[in-house]
Amino acid sequence: MNARKWSPDSWRTKPILQVPEYPDAAALAAVEDKLSKYPPLVFAGEARNLKAALGRVSQGQGFLLQGGDCAESFAEFSANNIRDTFRVLLQMAVVLTFGAALPVVKVGRLAGQFAKPRSSNTEKRGDVELPSYRGDIINGMEFTPEARVPDPTRLLQAYSQAAASLNLVRAFAQGGYADLHSVHRWNLGFVAKSPEAERWQDVANRITECLDFMQACGITPERSNEMRTVDFYTSHEALLLGYEQAMTRIDSTSGEWVDTSAHMLWIGDRTRQPDGAHVEFLRGVLNPLGLKCGPTTDPDELIRLIDLLNPHNEPGRLTLIVRMGHDKLGKHLPALLRKVRSEGRNVVWSSDPMHGNTLTSASGYKTRPFDRVLSEVRQFFEAHLAEGTHAGGIHLELTGQNVTECMGGAQAIGDDDLSSRYHTHCDPRLNASQSLELAFLIAEMLKLERNNRTLRHAAEAD
Ligand code: PEP
Ligand code: CO
Repeated sequence: MNARKWSPDSWRTKPILQVPEYPDAAALAAVEDKLSKYPPLVFAGEARNLKAALGRVSQGQGFLLQGGDCAESFAEFSANNIRDTFRVLLQMAVVLTFGAALPVVKVGRLAGQFAKPRSSNTEKRGDVELPSYRGDIINGMEFTPEARVPDPTRLLQAYSQAAASLNLVRAFAQGGYADLHSVHRWNLGFVAKSPEAERWQDVANRITECLDFMQACGITPERSNEMRTVDFYTSHEALLLGYEQAMTRIDSTSGEWVDTSAHMLWIGDRTRQPDGAHVEFLRGVLNPLGLKCGPTTDPDELIRLIDLLNPHNEPGRLTLIVRMGHDKLGKHLPALLRKVRSEGRNVVWSSDPMHGNTLTSASGYKTRPFDRVLSEVRQFFEAHLAEGTHAGGIHLELTGQNVTECMGGAQAIGDDDLSSRYHTHCDPRLNASQSLELAFLIAEMLKLERNNRTLRHAAEAD
């Protein structure tokens, strides 16, 4: 369908948005050349495994959990931060697996999530106007003219931070830290402390019973790899295309191109123009892709984008990440679901309930009310129930740290609390407790979907 010739640099001839202005093009080219000789961060076979797992999700046989920082930063880079984000994702995954009774595909927004699209090219404070901060891979967050100049050496620092982060995550995933019994113990600790303890205790007890039963049957961490290790994948927005191109290599087994900067890459809501550079670049790599769908996504244009990005309709290749806002989703999503279903396109539908629900609080903090986040997720599930399609995943900005960036949740974080631990380098994130609370709530929605499916199958069998 799409025979136009592609090469790793064919995006350079296309219109591009959100591109930083580097003062020294030669210095940037030298860094990109250097990076193109550095070792890959991920392998094509791993990206293919993720694609296969997402293929099962697209058929209703799994659920995608994707989450992490809005923007990773050089300043907050530490083993503890990475461990805590990894841990909260695993804790959520156990709860979701139980609710859905389906495998949960775990993908971090980490080890490369550095570049940020901005709604304005400049930031004004008082009388001073400077270029916007675009993420640590591009410039510095401090509000000074020097910090805001795009600096190519930041690409190298981002690469090494991504490599070290991924190395640690691989060790956590495979080295015993991810033991199902430990993860469940952490969840019991969360439930015991939660103001909603009574509500979650029943689910927690049932998981305990399952684990005890399995143990009695001889399915133990010592004897079963699945009890001790997890498959964990990385992802980020493929925004800074010079970096992505430098990390793109030929897969020696298939001869195809793979972007080795992460397993999965997505296109943001601001850079999804069908004729633009970002779509051009990503259509040519074999990785599983995400595409953000905002309230302005038009059903016909969406089909055009799907066909550009997934011309062979390969299951697992494309995840549509819906981020409409709690007040807009009900109006826009049903038409997209119907269109994609009636055109027979294989996609994973995932909900990003963060990016359409950002507001500035009375005290001046950029925040997201937990109730609005939850409302968008609920409406996402309801729309899928109504259309008979699969609510296939959740995409969250979260951290394992006890930050105060999003309001509400069982801890009832108020506007006055935001200033106490507000650390994000970009958008407000759910903290560990809000993330787990949301996972328990989504598990209830998944269970409802499961019951509905069982009823439908029974009716079909009659
Ligand atoms: C993001 O995921 O951080 C982001 C910028 O999202 P969107 O492109 O949906 O606005
Ligand atoms: Co964000």
